[in-house]
Amino acid sequence: MRVLTGIQPSGDLHIGNYFGSIKQMVEAQAQNQTFAFIANYHAQTTLSDGKRLSTLTMQCATDFLALGIDPQKSVFWVQSDVKEVLELYWVLSSFTPMGLLERAHSYKDKTAKGFATNHSLFSYPVLMAADILLFGSEVVPVGKDQIQHVEIARDIAIKFNNQYGDILTIPQFRVQDEVATVPGIDGQKMSKSYGNIVNIFGEEKSQLKTIKKIVTENVAMEEPKEYETCNVYNMAKLFLEGENLIALQERYKKGGEGHGHFKVYLAEVMWEYFRDFRLHREYYEKHQDEVREILQAGAKKAKEAALPTIEKIRSVTGISY
Ligand code: ADP
Ligand code: TRP
Repeated sequence: MRVLTGIQPSGDLHIGNYFGSIKQMVEAQAQNQTFAFIANYHAQTTLSDGKRLSTLTMQCATDFLALGIDPQKSVFWVQSDVKEVLELYWVLSSFTPMGLLERAHSYKDKTAKGFATNHSLFSYPVLMAADILLFGSEVVPVGKDQIQHVEIARDIAIKFNNQYGDILTIPQFRVQDEVATVPGIDGQKMSKSYGNIVNIFGEEKSQLKTIKKIVTENVAMEEPKEYETCNVYNMAKLFLEGENLIALQERYKKGGEGHGHFKVYLAEVMWEYFRDFRLHREYYEKHQDEVREILQAGAKKAKEAALPTIEKIRSVTGISY
């Protein structure tokens, strides 16, 4: 199976990115053809500081490698190193009804949050469709927020194929139910662009400081507490299983502890969970040239994988003459 996913280098990677997408990708590497890329063109929809974008691109690549994307098993590259994606984006634009984009939640959410309503933000699902369709992706692991975009990619592909025959592979999304949407510290979807993240590779002290800001119900220390609706619990459950998870539920039910105690516990289990990844990251942090080489080699492979599709498309749409 060909599995593909992308992540925007628009800020520090957070635990929503990890559980919603990166972890699934790392697990998929064992038995699939996996394609993972850093969506730097997508990040331009909300980030105009060029220096910051290039820094974040390398940071994101370093993080991906640390978290287990293995360049021997996966094709791993930066989106802008395979320019064919922009060509396909344009071709697909003519197969994208305006209504399809007007209905996109992510655009509505971002503009409601005060981002400028520019064309790139509006047309970004078409670029995402190009990312997916250029490589013949069959499965796209994403968080719940991105399901609609994969559906848009499907709609566009079907429309294109209706016109030109069976050229594009129709992709499917894959969402891990338990982690469909990881809450941010304010209880909304955790997102780099909403300033509510718990990052993966922060300093221990600053992580605890962030975790302490998680919004919780106001309940007296001695009272029992709801865990299902608690943002701290909903983050902690990502790192716990079996007995440890049940033990935490019992602590909520029993009362006698405040949310502050659960926050300290969350910070501890999270720190422990990412321990080995942090060590792995230190290596890549010291070997940035190696990271660049990996990305270049990945871009070469990605380009080779894209060429048959893009050449067919140039031919059927009459761009080759
Ligand atoms: P962000 O919203 O932080 O900018 P991206 O849009 O770059 O993150 O998302 C990269 C991947 O991580 C996508 O597959 C997305 O669905 C997933 N993801 C992002 N935030 C969450 C979340 N809060 N819960 C689950 N998955 C998420
Ligand atoms: N739009 C995705 C996001 O913001 C990132 C992304 C870009 C992506 N292209 C993709 C995800 C292709 C999966 C497949 O989360």
